[in-house]
Amino acid sequence: MNAAPVSPAGAAPADSSAAQVPVIAIDGPTASGKGTVAQRVAAALGFACLDSGALYRIVGLLALERDTDLDDGPRLAALAARLQPRFEDGQVLLDGRDITEAIRREDVGRAASRVAAVGPLRAALLALQRQQRRPPGLVADGRDMGTVVFPDACLKVYLQADVRVRAERRLKQLIEKGYSANLADLLQTLRERDQRDQTRDCAPLIAAEDAKVLDSTTLTVEEVVAQVLQWYRGL
Ligand code: DC
Repeated sequence: MNAAPVSPAGAAPADSSAAQVPVIAIDGPTASGKGTVAQRVAAALGFACLDSGALYRIVGLLALERDTDLDDGPRLAALAARLQPRFEDGQVLLDGRDITEAIRREDVGRAASRVAAVGPLRAALLALQRQQRRPPGLVADGRDMGTVVFPDACLKVYLQADVRVRAERRLKQLIEKGYSANLADLLQTLRERDQRDQTRDCAPLIAAEDAKVLDSTTLTVEEVVAQVLQWYRGL
């Protein structure tokens, strides 16, 4: 979804030989650095990038704004089926509205984690995600890219990092953006979200059996990107 509109759910596949298009799946817990790594790997290879978490965040935002129950499967699935977000130059646009900042709010992240446990919503977002698989390739980040959405990905990476380090990274990001936050609250939120993402019945966060597990606790973003590229080029 790098600088490109996302095709609406239900549209024809971009390429009938989509299965031939290489996918690098990067999964992992909240704030493990997947998003940044995925973008940089995609840029290095000239691939598109799918930030699947943004889709759950958009649904979470809409549900909060419309007072929709965060576990109302049919209504959430209906919201998702009409979703036509555009991802352009780092901005996220929905029906002409710039929601780039709004979907990054902590309350929206929590709502995203709640709606993400709802099976009908996950099913409704499947086609939208798979349609992003277009030549020359796709880097997809999320929780179930390697297990459910792209089980035939040519490279699956499970990126993890110590929860305290993830909380510190998230705190730094928020402060840089001018938000107030504190480490203890962030740590608690991350633990709750990890727990919910890992224990839900539907597509829980788990490393695919054939995933390469990479712990970024003591690594820089550059080192993680280099490792993923080395794995990909060595295929
Ligand atoms: O990666 P993120 O923090 O932006 O994702 C927000 C939430 O969406 C996260 O708590 C879990 C959910 N999610 C998911 O269940 N499956 C995905 N493929 C991506 C995100």
